[in-house]
Formats: sequence, C-alpha cells, structure tokens
Amino acid sequence: MEDRQQWGSRYGFILAAVGSAIGLGNIWRFPAVAYENGGGAFFIPYLVALLTAGIPLLILEFTLGHKYRGSAPLSYFRLHKNAEWLGWWQVFVAFVISTYYAVIIAWALKYSIYSLNLTWGDKPSDFFYGEVLQLSAKPGEVGGLVPGVVIALLIVWVVTLLVLYKGVSKGIERFNKIFIPALVIMFLLIVIRAVTLEGAGQGLNTFFSPDWSMINNGKVWVAAYGQIFFSLSIAFAIMVTYSSYLPKKSDINNNAFITGFANSGFELLAGIGVFAALGFMAMQQGLPVAEVVKGGIGLAFEVFPAIINEFPGGNAFFGTMFFLTLVFAGMTSLISIVETYVAALQDKFGISRTKAVLMGGGVASVISLLFATKGGLYMLDITDYFINNFGITLAGLVEVVLIAWFFKQMKGLQDHANVISDLRTGLWWKICLGVITPILLGYMMFDNIKQNIAENYGGYPTGLVVTYGLAVAIGVIVLGFLLSLVKWKTNAVQEKREVS
Ligand code: ALA
Repeated sequence: MEDRQQWGSRYGFILAAVGSAIGLGNIWRFPAVAYENGGGAFFIPYLVALLTAGIPLLILEFTLGHKYRGSAPLSYFRLHKNAEWLGWWQVFVAFVISTYYAVIIAWALKYSIYSLNLTWGDKPSDFFYGEVLQLSAKPGEVGGLVPGVVIALLIVWVVTLLVLYKGVSKGIERFNKIFIPALVIMFLLIVIRAVTLEGAGQGLNTFFSPDWSMINNGKVWVAAYGQIFFSLSIAFAIMVTYSSYLPKKSDINNNAFITGFANSGFELLAGIGVFAALGFMAMQQGLPVAEVVKGGIGLAFEVFPAIINEFPGGNAFFGTMFFLTLVFAGMTSLISIVETYVAALQDKFGISRTKAVLMGGGVASVISLLFATKGGLYMLDITDYFINNFGITLAGLVEVVLIAWFFKQMKGLQDHANVISDLRTGLWWKICLGVITPILLGYMMFDNIKQNIAENYGGYPTGLVVTYGLAVAIGVIVLGFLLSLVKWKTNAVQEKREVS
C-alpha cells in the first residue's frame, strides 16, 4: 500500500480534479440537456441538484478515496465487505462512457481543423450528418466504419493511453498543468466575445428565466441530477480514484469546494456563453431564441458552426478556439475516466500499470469503434441517455442510500474529513445526502422510469433502446456483481484491517 502513486502537489491534485470535472459535459452536453429540458426552466433543478447532491457527494467521494486509498472497487470493499459491487458498477459505467466520449473528442478534433477555413460551408447540419458522420438513414443501420472519424479517434486513444502509462504525477498531473490553464484562458476569451455580441442579452434572458411549470416533471429533475453528476465526475468512480492518490495530510473539504465551484462556475460560464451566442444568432435570423436551437446530441456541431459563420470577424480564430476548448476539456476528462478502470484492474489483479493501461484501454478503444460507424450517432445518443439516467444517476442514488441508510457510515466519513480539513462540514452535509437526495432523487427517478416505460427515449425503435440503452444499463450492474465475486489477487483483504 505504501508504494501507491501520489500527486506531486495539492495544486496538481486540484488541477487534475478540476480537469476531470470540466469536460464535454460542460460545453457539449450542458446546452443540449438544458435545451431539451425546458431551457431556462432547467436552471432551478440544476441548482438544487448541485447544492444538495453534487457538492456533498464530491466531499463524500474525496473522503472515500482518501480514507481507503484504493480504486473505486477497493475503496468500497474497504468501506464495507458488501459494497465492492457498487465500485465495479461505477467502474463499468465509466468504461462505457469512455467508449463514446472518445468519439466526441474525435469529432471536435476534426472540427478544430475544419474551423480554419469554415469547411462546413453554409449548411453545417448537412455537413455534420452527411460528410463528417456519413450518418445512415435509419437508426439501427450500422453501416461500416467512417475512416475520418476512426483516424481522429486513434489519435485520441493514443494520447490518452500514453499519458496514463506515464502515471499519476508524471502523466496525469503534468498534462492537466498544461491544458487546464490553456483551456480557461481560451474559454474566457470566447465567452467575453459571446456576451458582447449583438442580441446576447436576449439569449441570456431565455437562459435565466425559469418556467415553473416544469418543476414537477421527474424527467427534468433526473436530467438535472444526471448533468450535475456527469459534470462533477461523481458516481462513476473517478473522484474516488483520484483522491486515493492524495497524501495522508490533505484538506478534503476545501479541495471539494474548490473543485465543485470551479466546475459549476465554468459550466455557468459555458451556459452564459452558449445562450449569449444563441441570442446573437436569433437576432441575425430575426427569430425567437427558442427557434434557433435544436435538440439532440449534434447541437454543438450544428448550431456552433452556424453561429461561427455569422460572427462579425475572426471567424476562423474563434471557431478553432471553440473546438480546441472541447478537445482540451474532453481529453483531461477522458484521462480520468479511463484511469478508473486502469486503477481497478491494477488493484484487483495485481498487474502493472502498463498492462492495465494496455488491457483496459485496448478493449475500450476497440469497442469505441462501434460509435465511429455510420450508425454510431444513434447508438451514442441512446447509450449516453441511459448510462446517465440509469447508470450514473442511479448509481449515485444507490451510493448515498447504501452508505447513509444501510452501512451507516456517514459519521465515520465525516469525522475523517473534518479532522484533516480546515473547513468542517456540519449537519447540513448529512441531511443533504441522507435525507434530501434519497427522497427527492428517489421520487424523481421513479417518475422518470414510469415515463421511460410509457414512451421510448427519443422515439427510437424498441429494439435499439433495449440493446444500447437498457441492456447496457443493466449489463454494467450485472458485471459489477460478477467482478465482486472474483477473489482479490492483491493483499487488499489484509490491508483492509489497517485502513479501517
Ligand atoms: N466530468 C466530465 C465532463 O463533464 C466527465 O465531461
């Protein structure tokens, strides 16, 4: 246990955690989810989810990783002998996410080059679906690999696995130290430009005016929790893994607040930038803001190029910067997502980091090819929806219910964090996680499941929803249970006594 790798500095850890949190979720996913769930109305459940579940869960996961010093399965196993499956479930959720997340980064990589001469022309939607993705006519038609996407995907995987091979401090920490400051500077420039565009105010108005009629729709709430969990990298093994590399003397609570607020600050900024830009486009076209947005996963790759086309100047510059921010934000997150299973494989089977990177990364990169086919986008959309709603969000709910209600570990964990942290959490933390989140999220999850049974997600055919949605969401739970039945090849069991 003593030879576990460590972050080089507190700053290094915070940058890595922030790097994991700030990702495609903030820039690519957030506007689409917000739009599909009532636009400005989404703001209220989003804030409630952030404050009552997001930040408290982040503190919980930092504490778990720091106290039990292991990958998610190992840390949960050390927390309670019946909790290992939960760690594996979350690791498998991360695994699934990595397989399509890498593909979106690959698109963004291509678009940062297309931006140089606005290759997408005056019909960005046709370009995206027709030329870049060569999307098959019907959901369910797989239709062969798209070479352009495969090449970009290969680059994404090679860089990710090289960084992971280098290790925690020399690989992950160094990468984040370069790319996170670069990302923040570039993004600030973009947002400043966006809010100074003509019509920006109208877009912001749409973003900030809540529509209370959406407030009791379970779907909207689960989407908000899903967005918060995805965006903060919680409930899918990442933050437990990252905090397991913290030195013994580390401030847990403060680190969690810094990470949480940095991420949400960035997301809010992204929301402001996105809606300001939408306001600008609406004004150019003389339409209401709601009419220039489109739902769906291609939002960033359809609407943004269209906005960039209309920019009053510096089109190529802002286009390239926008898509590069997607690449940088995505890469620092993908690295953390893949690290969850690299660490878990090492802990469980006692293999070297190199082997774990090659095995885990190898399998994931091959599976990710599925999303680089002509029918890939449909599968990606379904998998993303299900793995968020019934992977991450459900796993987060199960995590708090098990830890608070069944294993009754809240006090022990809180004491552990409070002793080493400057800032102490109080009763609010236990109430948020032990009462508010289980009840609110539990109720909304129930309502969401009912709606999903009544109607197929996105109007897709039942066969597809079952294969790429339901089967994946249930499959990761089953795999979680199965892996927890396999014996530890390392001396985790003996060390359990030392740490607990
Ligand atoms: N937290 C990462 C994101 O927001 C996964 O994209």
